[in-house]
Amino acid sequence: MKIAIASDHGGFELKQHLIAYLAELGHEFTDFGCYSPESMDYPDVAFPAAEAVARGEFDRGVLICGTGVGVSICANKVPGIRCALCSDILTAELTRQHNDSNMLAMGGRIIGVETAKAILRTWLGTDYLGGRHARRVGKIGKYEEGRSLPAETEAE
Ligand code: RB5
Repeated sequence: MKIAIASDHGGFELKQHLIAYLAELGHEFTDFGCYSPESMDYPDVAFPAAEAVARGEFDRGVLICGTGVGVSICANKVPGIRCALCSDILTAELTRQHNDSNMLAMGGRIIGVETAKAILRTWLGTDYLGGRHARRVGKIGKYEEGRSLPAETEAE
């Protein structure tokens, strides 16, 4: 897969481990920065990486900051991006199956390297289930297009 990856200083160290892991798994990647542990602003790397994923230049994207929250907020403002902040393997699996998430956010100050590698491996290796989830994901796309939601809101 072609992966866009980015972090701020809070995620820099974890990103170095994940870049090495992506290479080990045989994925292609582009690092959108930052390129040193010096303090910087996460929107400066999260938006360019998310926009590149939304344009279809990458299959998926991975974002890391201190908590993962800042980068996920940025990414989810980019139309077409469904970014999932994950700190555990089950969420990583379910967000691929149910949300067809195309970006993964993690917190470099929240989870350890081995957990992050397991989350990344699971997230990259899990397929979207479609079916009833496609209707729900479709409603997110419709909302982004500025259309109103269909009247039917019955739970399933
Ligand atoms: C940077 O100190 C920190 O605020 C950032 O990495 C991130 O956690 C924001 O959500």
